[in-house]
Amino acid sequence: MHLIELTEDEFARFRELVYRASGIRVAESKRVLMSNRIRRRLRETGIEGYSRYYDFLRSPAGKPEMQPFLDVVTTNETYFFRDEAHYRWLADEFIPEAVREARAGRRPRSLRLWSAACSTGEEPYSMALKLAARRVDLAGWRLEILGTDLSATALAAAEAAVYDERAMHLVGPGDRRAFFDEGPPGRWTVRPEVRAPARFRLHNLMERMTGEPFDCVFLKNVLIYFDAASKRKVVETVTAAMARGGLLVLGPTEGVHGMLDGLEKVKTWLYRKGG
Ligand SMILES: C[S@@+](CC[C@H](N)C(=O)[O-])C[C@H]1O[C@@H](n2cnc3c(N)ncnc32)[C@H](O)[C@@H]1O
Repeated sequence: MHLIELTEDEFARFRELVYRASGIRVAESKRVLMSNRIRRRLRETGIEGYSRYYDFLRSPAGKPEMQPFLDVVTTNETYFFRDEAHYRWLADEFIPEAVREARAGRRPRSLRLWSAACSTGEEPYSMALKLAARRVDLAGWRLEILGTDLSATALAAAEAAVYDERAMHLVGPGDRRAFFDEGPPGRWTVRPEVRAPARFRLHNLMERMTGEPFDCVFLKNVLIYFDAASKRKVVETVTAAMARGGLLVLGPTEGVHGMLDGLEKVKTWLYRKGG
């Protein structure tokens, strides 16, 4: 029989574990919330008691459980066109500038966009939607939009691309008709042509990003839960993954403004990598 709530001591050990694995600092006030969320994993794994579950997580046999554990402790709140100005900037300033540069022979006809901590996919699909809505012509270009997250459950929802009214509240009727299929009522699926440039994969922002550099990175509404040391690490990871001249779009709560050495401020939420 396990206790209904984590004891102070158990809570402290789980908080430390979450911090080391993800950079997230779970607030001390979240004991009941954490208890409820971890209890879901106890039910799922059939393990009796928080302490046993903790020991299991730390053991070699429990390694595969780390992913679902982190899944239940992350907060995945997001919606289409959150901070709409960022998407207007992307379609109306960033892409036209890239097109001009390519015409002048100063860059290849290729764009890689990264939605870092994309949760259930609304952010990367909002990028694709805004480009489609503004009829941005990228014929002959290679466009890739990569969405990454620590939560496999969130990424599975992103792949499925089915959304409810809560996620859709800022999507107008014209965009709904043009870029979504409705059905059953109140459930909206992003059309395949809008989804086409988007790819999803698991990635922990505390770890190095591999692959070709990104021309633009959205890093929004994730670092609020990180302490200064973890924020610094994430900023390092992200800037290392950006192309020279690449742009970083920040959410309103990231709190990394003193940590952006080597980046030039363009707007309060927009930074350019020098070189
Ligand atoms: C509140 S959502 C923000 C989603 C989207 N960027 C937005 O602005 O609407 C935060 C996301 O960050 C993810 N996350 C938290 N820590 C992470 C880490 N260390 N690496 C990658 N993703 C992480 C969570 O799983 C969650 O999906």
